[in-house]
Amino acid sequence: MTSGRFITFEGIDGSGKSTQARLLAADLERTGADVVLTREPGGSPGAEEIRRLLVEGAPDRWSGETEILLFTAARRDHLEKTIRPALARGATVISDRFADSTRVYQGAARGELRDVVDRLHDAVIGIEPDVTFVIDMDPGKALARGLARQSGEDRFEELGQGFQERLRDGFHALVTDNPTRCHLIDGDRAPETVAEDVVRILGAMA
Ligand code: ADP
Ligand code: TYD
Repeated sequence: MTSGRFITFEGIDGSGKSTQARLLAADLERTGADVVLTREPGGSPGAEEIRRLLVEGAPDRWSGETEILLFTAARRDHLEKTIRPALARGATVISDRFADSTRVYQGAARGELRDVVDRLHDAVIGIEPDVTFVIDMDPGKALARGLARQSGEDRFEELGQGFQERLRDGFHALVTDNPTRCHLIDGDRAPETVAEDVVRILGAMA
C-alpha cells in the first residue's frame, strides 16, 4: 500500500525535465509538503553506481538486452531504497524519468524489444506514477541545450538527432496510449511558464 503521490517527468534529453522537476519540488516544499526529488537512472546509491555504467562510454557499449537489464536493475534498487519508503510515509515523490523512459528509449532503439521491457517491468517493478508530465521539445533545440552542458554523460545524446526525433514520436505515442496519467507540456517556453502548466494540472487533479 502506498499513500504518497508519485509524479514523474519525461521527455527527450535537454527538454527541461530536470528544471521542471526542481521547480515543482521547490513549489511544493514552500507549502510545507514532504517532497523527495529523485532521478533515473539513479536515485539510490546502488542505482547511481549502475548509472555510470549506462551514461558513460561508447554508444554501442551494451547490447539492447543488456541495457534493458541494467536500467531495470537500477530501477528496482531505486524503488526499494528510495521510492517505496517515501511513498509509504506519505511523501510526494518527484522523479526525473522512470519506466516510461525505458519504454520509449529502448523501444526506439530496438522496437522488437518492447515486449521484453514490458514483461520485465511487470515482473520486478509493477508500479506506475500517479501522474506523468511529458515535456515536449523540438529535438534540434533540445540537443543544443543538452550538449551545451558538457556533463561527460553524453552516451545517449551522441546517438544524434534522428534518434531524438524517434524518441519524440515515442513520447507522443505514450501520451496517446495513457491519456489519463500522461500530460504533454510544451517545453519551448520560459521555465516559469512551463511550470505554471504543471501546477495548474496538478491543482485540477487534487
Ligand atoms: P533535461 O533534464 O530534460 O535534460 P534540463 O532541465 O537539464 O533538461 O535543461 C537542459 C538545459 O536547458 C539546462 O542548461 C537548462 O538550464 C536549460 N533549460 C531548461 N528549461 C529551459 C527553458 N524552458 N528554456 C530555456 N532553457 C531551459
Ligand atoms: P538523464 O540523466 O535524464 O539525461 P538528460 O538529463 O540528458 O535527459 O538520463 C540519461 C540518459 O539515459 C538519457 O539519454 C536517457 C537514457 N535513459 C534510457 O535510455 N532508458 C531509461 O530507462 C532511462 C531512465 C534513461
